[in-house]
Amino acid sequence: MTVAPGHGAEATAARVERRWGLVSIAIIFLLVVMAAYAGIHQAVMPQARVETADPRTLHIVGEFIEGNLGSAVEPDGSVTVRAIGQQYSFTPQCIVVPADTPITFRATSADVVHGFQIEHSNVNTMLVPGYISVVSTRFATPSDRVMPCHEFCGAGHQGMWGHIRIIEKAAFHKLAADQRRLSCVAQ
Ligand code: CUA
Repeated sequence: MTVAPGHGAEATAARVERRWGLVSIAIIFLLVVMAAYAGIHQAVMPQARVETADPRTLHIVGEFIEGNLGSAVEPDGSVTVRAIGQQYSFTPQCIVVPADTPITFRATSADVVHGFQIEHSNVNTMLVPGYISVVSTRFATPSDRVMPCHEFCGAGHQGMWGHIRIIEKAAFHKLAADQRRLSCVAQ
């Protein structure tokens, strides 16, 4: 009869199909294990890395008093930027940082949840009252970028835009020689 010619090919196809089926099941299984591991690992870790800041006393004591906000050069040459979000602005409203330098943002909220995002960068987090958000980045070249609040925070949300000015390293360090904390507000 005519069974023979097609039969071998069908068996091969079935075998290949089964094999690929197993591969896709293995991938799904691996992803489930990864998700479970990440979730359990995070749940059992002590929360010591979560830093807190009392929004009621931000302006009076600690890291986020007004005189301590802005950009500061660290002994290792990196720059730390401290900022606050509040309805409906950031302090400082214009942040200045050097290009080609490790930058760490430390920011929190004085009232409700705000968004903290810098266009064309990996900086994208929330500012949650009570907690300090820490994000590290590096900007390759000088430019001016916008920093919109991207969490709905009330009636004035759409007007809550900050700016970030990335300047040449040398120019930044010249400014930093005269001032302990830098910003580009009113410059
Ligand atoms: Cu702050 Cu939206």
